[in-house]
Amino acid sequence: MTSLAASTPPVIRHPIEPEAAPAVQLEGAGLTYESKDGILEAVAPTTLKIRAGEFVALVGPSGCGKTTLMRMIAGLIAPSIGTAQVFGDSPRVAQQRKRLGLVFQEPALLAWRSVEDNIRLGLELNPRETDTGMNIEELIEVVGLTGFGRYRPAELSGGMQQRVALARALAIDPPLLLLDEPFAALDEITREQMRYELLRLWGVSHNAQEPPRSAIFVTHSVAEAVAISDRVLVMSPRPGRIIADVPITTPQPRRPEHEHSDRFINNCAIVRAALRAPTTPAVPLDAA
Ligand SMILES: Nc1ncnc2c1ncn2[C@@H]1O[C@H](COP(=O)(O)OP(=O)(O)OP(=O)(O)O)[C@@H](O)[C@H]1O
Ligand SMILES: [Mg+2]
Repeated sequence: MTSLAASTPPVIRHPIEPEAAPAVQLEGAGLTYESKDGILEAVAPTTLKIRAGEFVALVGPSGCGKTTLMRMIAGLIAPSIGTAQVFGDSPRVAQQRKRLGLVFQEPALLAWRSVEDNIRLGLELNPRETDTGMNIEELIEVVGLTGFGRYRPAELSGGMQQRVALARALAIDPPLLLLDEPFAALDEITREQMRYELLRLWGVSHNAQEPPRSAIFVTHSVAEAVAISDRVLVMSPRPGRIIADVPITTPQPRRPEHEHSDRFINNCAIVRAALRAPTTPAVPLDAA
């Protein structure tokens, strides 16, 4: 049996650039949905800064507003209150400038298009004025699908389909990747491999004009969040607010064996405690 630790190449890491314009800046940004049953506050006013080169994980209970927050940052919905900026622009402008790559829970590949053509779709929908990105063959190689370019999604496993979705998001070489539970449909072992693969892919950029790549990664797995991120943001139940911002102290570059370290276990415990906090019954001060 090959060990994952031995087969996983080291991760290339971007330096975090504290002086560069933040990748994401929210100033009191909140979102309220209006439906026939009335209004529903999904995300409470949130102030948040994500620096260029930072990999941030976002965890929180189901329905707390994680996807809503991501959609706001992606420019798919406008905040009802406050402002959202991506590299100093409105999210829609950042989207137009090809500075955002999106990967969601379902790979959303076009069934009738081959792997190559699905990846090409990322470029067709978001053509760059100057071709700074990787070519299709290179992208296929980077995501480990050499030889599968002419296959259709139905002929691939779930993990392979997610790699195509990642390649499609990376086709425009965006300095910000928004990943909303991209591995939710995968089995545990594939998921554990994909997290390091994602970190490696995240580090590959050809575009020296852009700041180092940042990422926001939504997951329900605390271990996954701690394994790959620089910081874990914990959201409360709806209306979602960020109730903890936990710096992850395991060394870089991240390797699977770090997941057995005391630091890793400690970091997971802090995140789990924050997730439990809103529902933990208050203990009266004089109870002891
Ligand atoms: N388009 C919509 N219209 C009305 N309400 C919505 C809409 N999308 C989401 N909601 C509501 O907003 C709240 C937050 O939903 P959201 O999808 O952001 O949660 P989430 O944290 O991503 O949950 P999960 O972990 O299950 O994916 C939920 O109560 C949901 O019902
Ligand atoms: Mg969601």
